[in-house]
Formats: sequence, structure tokens, C-alpha cells
Amino acid sequence: MQVAIIGSGGREHALAWKFSCSPSVEKVFVLPGNPGMSKTCEVELVPCDPLNNQQVIKLCQQYQIDLVIIGAEAPLANGLADQLERAGFNVFGPSQAAARLESSKIFAKNFMDEMDIPTAKYQSFDSYSTATAALEKWDFSCGVVIKADGLASGKGVVITHDLACATNTLHNLMENSSYPIHASSVVIEEFLNGKEASIFALCDGENYHLLGHACDYKRLNDGDQGPNTGGMGCYYTPNWPTANHYQQIEEKIIKPTLTGMKRRGTPFKGVLFLGVMIDGESINLLEYNVRLGDPETQTLLPLLSDDLPQQILAAAQGRLSSTPTIKPPVNCSLHVVLASGGYPGVDGTPMELNNPIRWKVPTDYEVNIFFAGVSENPQADLVNSGGRILGVTATANSLAEARLLAYQQLAKVSCSGTQWRKDIGELL
Ligand code: AMP
Ligand code: GLY
Repeated sequence: MQVAIIGSGGREHALAWKFSCSPSVEKVFVLPGNPGMSKTCEVELVPCDPLNNQQVIKLCQQYQIDLVIIGAEAPLANGLADQLERAGFNVFGPSQAAARLESSKIFAKNFMDEMDIPTAKYQSFDSYSTATAALEKWDFSCGVVIKADGLASGKGVVITHDLACATNTLHNLMENSSYPIHASSVVIEEFLNGKEASIFALCDGENYHLLGHACDYKRLNDGDQGPNTGGMGCYYTPNWPTANHYQQIEEKIIKPTLTGMKRRGTPFKGVLFLGVMIDGESINLLEYNVRLGDPETQTLLPLLSDDLPQQILAAAQGRLSSTPTIKPPVNCSLHVVLASGGYPGVDGTPMELNNPIRWKVPTDYEVNIFFAGVSENPQADLVNSGGRILGVTATANSLAEARLLAYQQLAKVSCSGTQWRKDIGELL
């Protein structure tokens, strides 16, 4: 089959690489992709704007695409899956209505409540004055989490134990037009302790197959300090979350989610991504995403032995109940992200961009390099042009070995002004 992957980040690079290795796939097109992708795997890059639905449809028709995979949340929230499906394509990704699980935190929290899905206690507000009044009554000894309602690429959540910081955050999100993220509504919720995991299930509207899990490092700096980012690194080990955790995740979260979405007339097809907080045996759902994670995809895909394109096609066509389940990986993997100076820039810091990137193609089968925010420059091959520039994944029998391999490969990359975490997979 001929496959189109919509997007341009590290997640889409990992998907393009995995698909290009599959015996089921003749050709992979990435719309628009990034120039690092075609240096490391056989793909064709097709310039386009993923938020221009008509343009994407025309290109998929022109290239006779059999399966379309939509990588990021913004095109899903913009109704791309609905329109491609109406044009007759096999599409892997939820409808605009189902994508509200991610595009509106308030919708998601209300849905969790309706379906009795365990989550942090919360209140939602659409006015600054009522939200600040609620903060004044908040018990800050346990902390508070403030979340912008719309899509914010992982940067719209602030956690604090301090009233002044919480009030300032609300002011920035709701009242300060020069702040990079604007929210007309917010969720304010209790802070939950525990260890986080990202869980992925391929869904066809009714049935699901577990794809796996990964643990993402959201904070910018070592020791989980600094602002939230889209993700600075990630790892997979097969032994946690445990089988008991998975049983709860399936029974208390995935099954009610699919039942509830179908009952509302908005069945969920695509990747259901659960951000869960696990504290001992207790599990709470922090958030839904409606797509694969970035950098979880780069961490997980190199470990999968099944033919992912066949699984994804089956989900797109509503055939998961007659498709074998996905074998959970037995090895470990670890991924480290290289980010531009200034990233994530939520405080207005400008990013240091357009610096040449020196890098080496990995010679080891167990190591992959996945590009994200890069462009081509006639003088310098690749230059950094976005927040997260690239990431390196290594797989091995143990996490310690994967960690060593990933950092060894990253040491062969250089680009002025960049930052990366040194502690991915260090202390678990
Ligand atoms: P979200 O976009 O809702 O996943 O939030 C981004 C990140 O903020 C999560 O991955 C957590 O690290 C953190 N977070 C969100 N909600 C909570 C919560 N209620 N308690 C503790 N941490 C949270
Ligand atoms: N790594 C978190 C995300 O993709 O949203």
C-alpha cells in the first residue's frame, strides 16, 4: 500500500521509518515532513500545510494513497480525518468531535466524570474573576494545577504550591494578550502524587488493541525542574506499569471511554493516549490525547516486532476484532531530545535558531536518530528551525545499556546553543 503520514516532527519521522521498513508498504509520503527524514529513511516529502484540509485531500488523491495517518492534534481538531474519510480514504485518526477529548480539557474532564473514570477533582472557569476567587479559597498545602482549556503543545499546564504564582498564571493565561498561550477557559484541579505513564491503545471505534506504554520527561531541566515542555526524553521498560495496573487501565479507563464516545455518537478511532498518574495501585487519568505521543512514539516504535501498518489499516477499517493483538516489547528503550536554546519559550525567551547541525548516521542497528525542528540551508546541510530539533533512541536488553548507547550517539551531534537533559532513565 501507499501511505501518507501527515506531520513534520520526530513522531512522524519514527512513523515514516517504521512504515518504510514494512513489507506491506510500497511507498511512504510525508506531508510535509522535514528534510532530516529523507536522510535516514526512504520516504518522499510532499510540501503542504496540514491545516489546509483541501490541499491534503488533493495531494492524497494525486499520490493514490491507500492509508492516511494523522500525526498531530491540530489537524485532527481541524476536522482533517472527517474530510479525508468523506473523500473515501482509509484514515487513522479521530473525527473532530472525538478529538475534543484532547482539544478541550473541560470536555475531557466532564466526560471522565460522566463515565466515572478516576481523575483529579477539578473545577472549570470561563472568567478570570471567578477563577481567582476560587484560588483564594484553595488549600495550597497540597498544590494546585492550572490548565488552559485549548491545545497548547504541552505548555498550557502550570503546577504550583503558591497563591501568588497561581494568580499570576491565571492572569497570563486569561488576561495577558502578550503571553504566548491564551485561554478563555481554564481547569483548576487538585495536584496528584505518583509516577506518570503514557499508555497507548489503537482503537477502531469499538474495539482496541494495546500498543504499549512509555514514560516521558515533561520538564525542561534535570531533576524535573523548569517549565513543562512537549517532552525532553522518554524510556520504555516492560515491567512497569504492571499487569495489575493494565487491568485497571483497561477496565476503568479504556473500555468506558470507548463505550461513552460511541454512545455520544462520536466513536473513537485512532490512538487513544492516556496520561495516567500511578500511585501504588491507585490510577488516575490526568489527560487524554488523541494521537501518538512525541517522544513516546520514537521510544516505542523501534521495539515493536509486529507489522504496524497492517494493525493501523485494520483499525482504520474497523477490523481490529479480527486482527491479532500486538505483542508487548520485551526489550528496553530510551530516547533523548536535543532542543534549541530558549525552548520552550513560554516566558517570552526567543529561541536560538538557524545554527548548523553536525551529526552522524547511527551505525548501530539498535540506534535511531529522528529529526523534528530542522530545515535545509544551502551552506549547512541541516539547521535547527524549531524547539525540539531531534532525538536519539537506543534499544537494548537493559535500560542502562539503552541509556549508554543513546547518550553515546547524542555526543556525536552538535549544534550551537542547544540543551538536553542528562538524566533520562537515570533514577527510576
Ligand atoms: P496534561 O496536559 O493535563 O497532561 O498536563 C501536563 C503535565 O502536567 C502532566 O503530564 C503532569 O506531569 C502534570 N499534571 C497534570 N495534571 C496533574 C495533576 N492533577 N497532578 C499532578 N500533575 C499533573
Ligand atoms: N509527550 C507528550 C505528548 O505527546 O503530548
